[in-house]
Amino acid sequence: MSYAAAAEGQGNDRARVTVPTLAEMKRTGEAIVMVTAYDHPSARIVEEAGVDVVLVGDSGAMTVLGYPSTVEVGLEEMLMMAKAVRRGLSRPLLVGDLPFGSYEVSNEQAVSTAIRFIKEAGCDAVKLEGGGPNSQRRAEAMINAGIPVMGHVGLTPQTAAARGGLRAQGRTAEAAERIGREAQALTAVGCFALIFEAIPAAVTAILMPMIEIPVIGIGAGGATDGQVLVFHDLLGLGEGPRARFVKQYADLHSPMVDGVGSFAREVRERGYPQHHHEYGIAPTELTALQQRLNGPDAADR
Ligand code: KIV
Repeated sequence: MSYAAAAEGQGNDRARVTVPTLAEMKRTGEAIVMVTAYDHPSARIVEEAGVDVVLVGDSGAMTVLGYPSTVEVGLEEMLMMAKAVRRGLSRPLLVGDLPFGSYEVSNEQAVSTAIRFIKEAGCDAVKLEGGGPNSQRRAEAMINAGIPVMGHVGLTPQTAAARGGLRAQGRTAEAAERIGREAQALTAVGCFALIFEAIPAAVTAILMPMIEIPVIGIGAGGATDGQVLVFHDLLGLGEGPRARFVKQYADLHSPMVDGVGSFAREVRERGYPQHHHEYGIAPTELTALQQRLNGPDAADR
């Protein structure tokens, strides 16, 4: 395929999703579908399902790496997940989540981390959490370096401890206004889209007319330009309590446990493998093998 054809997304069933595609979807009112992915199989599934945006979320810290929160995941771990996802995706826009500690210290740190997501992992854009002055400066620096940046306001799990834990944000007039101001500030520095997480639906509805860029919600009601869910939450692959906003569309945990359990039972009962799972060998070769092993010199070998 030529460069121009690739750039236009020819060769795929539908054109590749880009930053301008999302702006156009907001303009026309077409809902944006975003899902997280963390490895090659999950990337293949979300691609086949036709989602628009794939986030290699730092939620992978908990869903696939088993950390107690998103704070522990490191940059190299995030890059490894992003590379695996990249190898499985062609149409959706791929966004890499900047992990805690990889962008806060300075603009230089943020830019060099973001460049790694773009150059090494093949992401199309990065996401950072928070809408305060520090996040605004980091977002602006990355955008000035030519990197598309998605903002994230409301509940920001990386700094949740400082706000009393994983709980809905914007539940007072003052807090809701702050979220609106942060969203506007991130828009002003050039973010191409925003995540609204865990915000009362009525607050989102009031703020949406103030925001010119696409807003993708998670636990922020139906007024946003699109919705995002975590892959493991929507497919029922996780354990433990679920956040109020999670809708589980499938229960894959139980069939997976059943599948592995059936394998274990058949192995223990000597029911697996069966004849059709075995490789064959020509009878003459088998006889020759037996002669070689049992022949007159066999003991000397
Ligand atoms: O890490 C993540 O999965 C996220 C989404 C919840 C937006 O940030």
